[in-house]
Order: sequence, then C-alpha cells, then structure tokens
Amino acid sequence: MGIVQDRVAVVTGGGRGIGRAICLLLAEEGAKVVVNDPGVAVDGTGFDQRPADEVVEEIRRRGGVAVASYDSVATMEGGERIIKTALDNFGRIDILVCCAGILRDRMIFNMTEEEWDEVIRVHLKGHFTVMKPASVLMRQQRYGRIITFSSSSGLIGNTGQANYGAAKAAIAGLTRVAALDLGRYGVTVNCIAPSANTRMTATIPDRARQIREQMGLARPRFEMSREPEDVAPMVVYLASEEAGWINGQIFYVGGGIVARAQEERPVRHMWKPERWTVHEIAGLIRSQLFDPTFVSPGLPRPEAQPAPQQAQPSQTQA
Ligand SMILES: NC(=O)c1ccc[n+]([C@@H]2O[C@H](COP(=O)([O-])OP(=O)(O)OC[C@H]3O[C@@H](n4cnc5c(N)ncnc54)[C@H](O)[C@@H]3O)[C@@H](O)[C@H]2O)c1
Repeated sequence: MGIVQDRVAVVTGGGRGIGRAICLLLAEEGAKVVVNDPGVAVDGTGFDQRPADEVVEEIRRRGGVAVASYDSVATMEGGERIIKTALDNFGRIDILVCCAGILRDRMIFNMTEEEWDEVIRVHLKGHFTVMKPASVLMRQQRYGRIITFSSSSGLIGNTGQANYGAAKAAIAGLTRVAALDLGRYGVTVNCIAPSANTRMTATIPDRARQIREQMGLARPRFEMSREPEDVAPMVVYLASEEAGWINGQIFYVGGGIVARAQEERPVRHMWKPERWTVHEIAGLIRSQLFDPTFVSPGLPRPEAQPAPQQAQPSQTQA
C-alpha cells in the first residue's frame, strides 16, 4: 500500500523538472495521476504534447495509472478542463500540485508590461485557475490536499525577477488564506519553495549567479546536488492523508534539506501611546528595530561606500 494509494492527483507542469518527479513518486505511492503540461519553452512560448505523454508512458511502464492533459493553467477555462480531466478519467480529485511555471527575467526598469503579465498569469493566476474548481469539489467531499509552489525569489528576494518574485510572494499569501478558507472542510493547503537543478534554473548563467552572490544580491547555492527527485518526497508526504495536521505552512525543500519557513510576523517593535512624529522615528528606528550590524539588501556594503563628504554651504543650497 502506497501512502497515497488510490488517491487521484493532478500535477500542473507535470511534464518536466520538479513536477515530473512528483508525478512519478505519486504514481509509485499508488495515486492515479493527471500529468498536466502544454510543454512550453521556459519563457512560456510554444506547445508540445511530448513532455506530458512521456511521463504518462513512464508511469504506465512502471505499472502505475496516469493520463495526460495539455491545457494551460493561464486561463480559467484551461484550469477547469485540467480538473475535469481528473473527474472524467478517475471520478474525483484528492490531490492538486501546482508546479507549472515560466520565467521572463528582467531588471524592473527594463521589464515590459507583457513580461509582467505573462509571469503573473502563469504562476499566480495559474494557481487560482485550478485551485478554484478543485476546492469546490474537495469541499463537497470533505477531503483534499493542495500543494502550491512559491520560491525564495518571492519569500526573500532575487534580482531581475520582479514579476516572478511578486507572483511567488503572492502564492505564499494565497496559500495562507486558502488554508484558512478550506481547513475546516478537511482540505489542507501547503506551500513548497523548492531548490533543484532543472531547465528553469539553468537559464540563469553561472557567471550572472556568481556576480549576484558576490554583490550580496543572491544567496549562495546549496553546495550539494539538488535534483527534482529530492523535492518530491516532501510533496507526496503533504499530499497524504497522514499529513492532515499540517495546514497553511511553507517549506523550503532542496537536496537533503526540508525546512519550515518563519511566518512574516513583526520581530521587533517600538511603541508609544500617541502617534509618532517623523523626527522621533528618524531618531530611534535604527537602534530600536535593527541590529548594529544590519545592512539592507541591495544597498552598497559599508566597505564599498565612499567616505562621507563634508557638505559645502554652496552645495547644500543648490
Ligand atoms: N527549480 C528550482 O530551483 C525552483 C526554485 C524555486 C521555485 N521553483 C518553482 O517550482 C516549479 C517547477 O519548476 P521547475 O524548475 O521544475 O521548472 P521546469 O521548467 O522544469 O518545469 C515547469 C513546467 O511547467 C510547464 N508549464 C509552463 N507554463 C505552463 C502553463 N501555462 N500551464 C501548464 N504547465 C505549464 C512547463 O511546460 C514545464 O514543463 C515552478 O513553479 C517554479 O517556479 C523552482
């Protein structure tokens, strides 16, 4: 008996990378799987049925049960058809894993409206388009497991990904709210911020990554192999009945790491019974809310800053 024996699962973006690894493990653990993937390029263009077909074939070759779906998560009609594929083939849906994703990286001052809209559409709206119809059914049957996909890019920050980071931070918020909406109906919603070598991470050149790391604009990569298969076990656990006590949580998963993320709660505060003035805040904020060694991300490091110049009276009046 697998941990998700006879459950029906839908995995968006299931044709490649992390989604593919999740499909294979769900099937190995007994689930019937809808492998959804329109087989687009990393930037979201094109269409190819092969990635989804190949995963379905591999599952069947290993004795599992799966069907392909090629709809895009980017529209409500597409999302509804994806969920309907589970109903038409297997009569229900127990598990929804939202792995579909694209990248259109660009510094914010160069980003086009289209690059912004497309990434928000596939990631953020692409969660809603399947979560909405799935949650209607899961609420009716009083059972469901939804696993969303965020990223350290949104939870912590990364350069050149204003569109992607905004979508990924919003997916964390969506997870927390949907978890509160659905928890009482036996439906849990949890979130993964994964780390794995896939074609998506391969789009960021090593040199650009090194420069970002040296400038403190990106965190160093885990010094270990991080395969898509490393992410799948935690997802499948969260998809199991056993994990019903976990709801609204965010986990970093990559290589040998499974970590629970801290909620965005106030960490330090200052308080007085009346409204603060601007000048009171200016005088106290550094000592009250920050450690002495604190350096904001994205700003020049102290050693890189030029020595403060003595202001000349003529300059200050300019
Ligand atoms: N790989 C990492 O280290 C990493 C880090 C942080 C977050 N993530 C997130 O994990 C998820 C999986 O990423 P991956 O690295 O496996 O990427 P990947 O590019 O290998 O796979 C993503 C899949 O999503 C599919 N897809 C794209 N647009 C779609 C659409 N409109 N509808 C349905 N499917 C669509 C693609 O065809 C592709 O097969 C994504 O949400 C990604 O943002 C990955």
